[in-house]
Amino acid sequence: MGARARRFSTSLLAALAVASCARVGPPAEPAGPTERPVHGVIPLPSSVQLDPGDGFTVDSATVIFVPSGDPEAERIARYLSGLIGPSPERAPEVRVAAGPPPPGSISLATDLRGPVVGEEGYTLVVTADRITLRAQRPAGLFYGVQTLRQLLPPEVEYTAAYPRPLRVPAVRIADQPRFAWRGAMLDVARHFAPVEDVKRYIDLLALHKLNRLHLHLSDDQGWRIDIRSWPDLATHGGSTEVGGGPGGYYTQEQYADLVAYARDRFIVAVPEIDMPGHTNAALASYPELNCDGIAPPLYTGTEVGFSTLCVHSDTTYRFVDDVVREISALTPGPYFHVGGDEVEELTPEEYVRFIERVQEIVTSHGKRMVGWDEIAAADLTPGAVIQLWRPDTAHIEIIEAARRGASLVLSPADRIYLDMKYDSATVLGLTWAGVTDLRRAYDWDPATFLRGVAPSAILGVEAPLWAETVGNIRDIEHMAFPRLAAVAEVAWSPAESRSWSEFRTRLGAQAPRWSALGINFYRSPEVPWLPEALWWRGGER
Ligand code: ACM
Repeated sequence: MGARARRFSTSLLAALAVASCARVGPPAEPAGPTERPVHGVIPLPSSVQLDPGDGFTVDSATVIFVPSGDPEAERIARYLSGLIGPSPERAPEVRVAAGPPPPGSISLATDLRGPVVGEEGYTLVVTADRITLRAQRPAGLFYGVQTLRQLLPPEVEYTAAYPRPLRVPAVRIADQPRFAWRGAMLDVARHFAPVEDVKRYIDLLALHKLNRLHLHLSDDQGWRIDIRSWPDLATHGGSTEVGGGPGGYYTQEQYADLVAYARDRFIVAVPEIDMPGHTNAALASYPELNCDGIAPPLYTGTEVGFSTLCVHSDTTYRFVDDVVREISALTPGPYFHVGGDEVEELTPEEYVRFIERVQEIVTSHGKRMVGWDEIAAADLTPGAVIQLWRPDTAHIEIIEAARRGASLVLSPADRIYLDMKYDSATVLGLTWAGVTDLRRAYDWDPATFLRGVAPSAILGVEAPLWAETVGNIRDIEHMAFPRLAAVAEVAWSPAESRSWSEFRTRLGAQAPRWSALGINFYRSPEVPWLPEALWWRGGER
């Protein structure tokens, strides 16, 4: 597409082997097409010990027990009960009481005296007579629930499956994430995504223990959030999209609802208003943002690099301040993303001065500035976050900025841009950064990606999904899955226990669960997808 195309013309299952006792590790040979992995948890936990003997059976008598006085654990217990739903004839009762958990229960509690598993870690022990989930913080309980969910058979994901007891294998898991930033970005500007679709994506991020949702809320083709002090941004700037469709925008209430929905799933919303370039929708809405005072027409094509705010005008900085203030007030998370990419209409000096002024505005509203890697040219305050995206750039400025205290989020376009085609036959997507199959998205290590940067400067990993060719949630799912599962594992699991051949087998076991969830995933030929029929053959397993 556009300038990017020019610049980069290059290119458990719960079916666990029920009675098996094994440590997770790479199998000697790649899996055959119907081979079952030892378990199907993605991302791979730091330590998994499957125990011999019987596992736990969830049936209509199962209680989820929470000690009194732990409201977050209670909320997460209710979420777990809702996930299990009526599969065992009725959703498990959530019981809040003092004292020890009753036999036969699933017990959830925050426990500060237990093993040190950090802000997001947890321990999960499944025996024949109980399931015990412990964490130091609620986020850990939530992630433990996602693991338990993946240890349950995939039919729990149906809302009206024929009721049956649900088996969970006997296992001991101790788990915590490798990186703090495990993100996904949705471009709701090129094609608008309604609230329900974003919530669906949030649910799928949560299943994979991702914890950042970056919303690309503005671009040349659309402005997607109501700004009360500049109302035409949404009503005019939001009125179209790539290809000339009707566009749309979030009211402030809808945006706040999305942020809260994400927060309930331990996902921090990161709003992006792209500037000074990628601003045609804003420029078309307010003539005074243009240096010549003339508003351009709305734009529905896919070129990039042609628009810029008037960086010499005080009006521009009043505009930026209003926008950052209104959105920051609706966003409890600590970040504000200012874009900053692909500016072709300014001199390097003008660009740097603009980013530094915007950084002051973002900081004055109590947020940490995030920007695409071009912002590394500016004098960044420690704590700023640079999102690396360009695959073919000399990364020297980024490395130097990291040495001066900036943090890095890695989104290399030739590995984890989810809008790149899987192969030349993929109908959706683009190819300017190459075609990126699943293995390319999985088989790399963020810690060794940039030589000269201390591992502590790497905040994490994020998979952007640009929406020039992506028009609805089915398209989003098709481009995101299975690659987003690979990104989740790159971001969560210890480098030393990751292996492509073992991952693809475990991933193949997701097919019945993803089918039950209705995910429109790409059946990549790199994966030995487990047929759904295996799950149902014989009823019991
Ligand atoms: C980008 O892909 N222009 C950040």
